Amino acid sequence: MKLRIGNATRYTYLFRNESATVSLTAVLFAMALLAHPGTAMADKADFSLYVDKSGNISLPDDFRLSMTHLGSWFVPEGEASGFHDVYTEPETVRAYRKTGIFPDGATLVKELRPSTASNYTTGTNVSHATGGVKQWFVMIKDTKARFADNPVWGDGWGWALIKTDSSNRNTTTNYRAECLSCHMPAKNTDWIYVEGYPTLSKPGR
Ligand code: HEC
Repeated sequence: MKLRIGNATRYTYLFRNESATVSLTAVLFAMALLAHPGTAMADKADFSLYVDKSGNISLPDDFRLSMTHLGSWFVPEGEASGFHDVYTEPETVRAYRKTGIFPDGATLVKELRPSTASNYTTGTNVSHATGGVKQWFVMIKDTKARFADNPVWGDGWGWALIKTDSSNRNTTTNYRAECLSCHMPAKNTDWIYVEGYPTLSKPGR
């Protein structure tokens, strides 16, 4: 069965509520119907919890609790200075560890936080993130080119920059102009800087 990140919780719900008299075949049949909604529109509206049917991307709610921390970057100076913490769904980590690719519907969130440094018992000039968020970057994997006419979708992803004033508004208008050239060095790893995400490898490697 196709992995459908956005619907994972709905499947769990279906299982819990099926009466014991319903045969396994019927449950599997219902799941097959859910997995193939029939129309392209239904697929567009359904494949991610964070994408509406027009392709608008929003910030996942409380992702620090529900998602897995993939890794962090520390940018010492400039506009983007501070910590860049990157998250994805636990299901995406499991799939990536098996296949080495990001599955359809995978979500990546990068959160930018300011930092400060001082002396701690671990050493001098130790940096940590402070309260407040600068902004978030979100990418949603789309293996089916669902939103071919939408300029924030392409090259296998939906691309979003979300500012702190509205978690539902993607301020990106064109990913080719605003994102792609900076991600060119990571083109061979599906545009993602995977070297910063040890969580994507099995422990011990
Ligand atoms: C100035 C160059 C630059 C621009 C512009 C840029 N990115 Fe990135 N992005 C990076 C780099 C470098 C990383 C990893 C290192 C870091 O965060 O410092 C990254 C990481 C990310 C990540 C974490 C996953 C990954 O690829 O490693 C997401 C999500 C992301 N960017 C989305 C976007 C989106 C969406 C846009 C456009 C709205 C965008 N970025 C524009 C350079 C850029």
